[in-house]
Amino acid sequence: MNAHDGSKAPDSDRTASLLINNVQVKMPVRSGSIGPDVIDVGRLYRESGCFTYDPGFTSTANCSSKITYIDGEEGILLYRGYPIEQLAKSSNFLEVCYLLLNGELPTETQYKEFDGHITRHTMVHEQMTRFFTGFRRDAHPMAVMCGVVGALSSFYHDSTDIHDLKHRVIASHRMVAKMPTIAAMAFKYSIGQPFIYPRNDLEFASNFLQMCFAVPCEPYEVDPVVAKALDRIMILHADHEQNASTSTVRLAGSSGANPFACIAAGIACLWGPAHGGANEAALKMLEEIGHVRNIPEFIKRVKDKNEGVRLMGFGHRVYKNYDPRAKVMQETCHEVLGKLGIKDDLLDVAMELERIALHDDYFIEKKLYPNVDFYSGIVLRAIGFPVSMFTPLFAVSRTVGWIAQWKEMIEDPEQKIGRPRQLYVKRG
Ligand code: CMC
Repeated sequence: MNAHDGSKAPDSDRTASLLINNVQVKMPVRSGSIGPDVIDVGRLYRESGCFTYDPGFTSTANCSSKITYIDGEEGILLYRGYPIEQLAKSSNFLEVCYLLLNGELPTETQYKEFDGHITRHTMVHEQMTRFFTGFRRDAHPMAVMCGVVGALSSFYHDSTDIHDLKHRVIASHRMVAKMPTIAAMAFKYSIGQPFIYPRNDLEFASNFLQMCFAVPCEPYEVDPVVAKALDRIMILHADHEQNASTSTVRLAGSSGANPFACIAAGIACLWGPAHGGANEAALKMLEEIGHVRNIPEFIKRVKDKNEGVRLMGFGHRVYKNYDPRAKVMQETCHEVLGKLGIKDDLLDVAMELERIALHDDYFIEKKLYPNVDFYSGIVLRAIGFPVSMFTPLFAVSRTVGWIAQWKEMIEDPEQKIGRPRQLYVKRG
């Protein structure tokens, strides 16, 4: 039953047996291209009267997918078969979007055409601007994004028929294109500045930066170092297999809900500090620690269960090794701070924290390593984003993954409405 050996017997020949209440149940074992096999328990209830119980889905595959592969033990992440390090080095975010949506990197012609589609969809319906003013100025941009993205379905009726391929494709392009515009508008609203329209002559990351940082009263020039770093950050966050927000998108979509509603559900899930909200939480934690001399005391608190303190930006459900995205992020962090000539004391705190944690038995035994969020906050801060924009940026980047996974689910004949069961326990 071990994966990676390349010598598996054909699926039809392989079964797993379970003896339960004196009934032997045989279940098919299915193999992926790489990665662990799965036991297909779909008939278990019918044949034994039992459900499986797996809170948090620690041992449960909910679908088969061709999009992203993670080997958590080895610290490997592949988008459509391409290692993340290679994509982060040699591709831009839009190429990666094309890859995730279509299965292969684009040719020059395909790229031009795709770029044109995305660029032409960046504006939001003018009437949407009025939505924003309904929110309090001090609303978190994620709260605004949940509402505004959900509202997209009330504007774009011509791309909500999930059974029509054309609608699905247009909805995908709209989501990828409009999410930066919406996130930037949420930011501008929160700081009381006018909305800045997208600029079609700029690349994806540069356009996002100008929508966030330009003001109508003076020219704005995108710093290429900053644009490159942001583009890379977006690549690193673009997809991550069946994580909590992606599973939320799939579950919402399994009922036949329209894609805009599903992505709004994904944004809501991403916001939590155990998931996309960790980048904000990690930076706040670094600020709270403040100085390397305070690290030992903080580590003591993390190790004390009664304190309920976690080392944010550390640990991962799947990675039991260094998160490959964290490595690229750490390099990007040094590069950006170096090129921009910024000295950030929080980087010293982060590096010392990482050094201590990687040598501490508590973290070694639990296989806790830095994840993508450990260094991302320092880079985003150097670029000029306030912490409240960290998770919205994650949402902007992850939208393509969500929509690619949603589309794959809709087109998968094996998918049904997601409907878990429960272990009912009487009160008392
Ligand atoms: N600091 C201290 N202890 C930790 C941490 C941490 N960051 N993460 C896990 N542990 C401990 C935990 O207390 C538990 O100990 P014990 O076995 O003694 O009860 C053990 O490690 C296993 O933890 P778990 O919560 O059962 O593991 P999980 O797979 O359910 O949680 C996680 C994964 C990411 C939610 C968790 O590691 C965490 O809370 N990390 C901090 C938040 C964070 O950085 N999240 C971003 C994840 S990467 C970006 C993304 O995909 O969204």
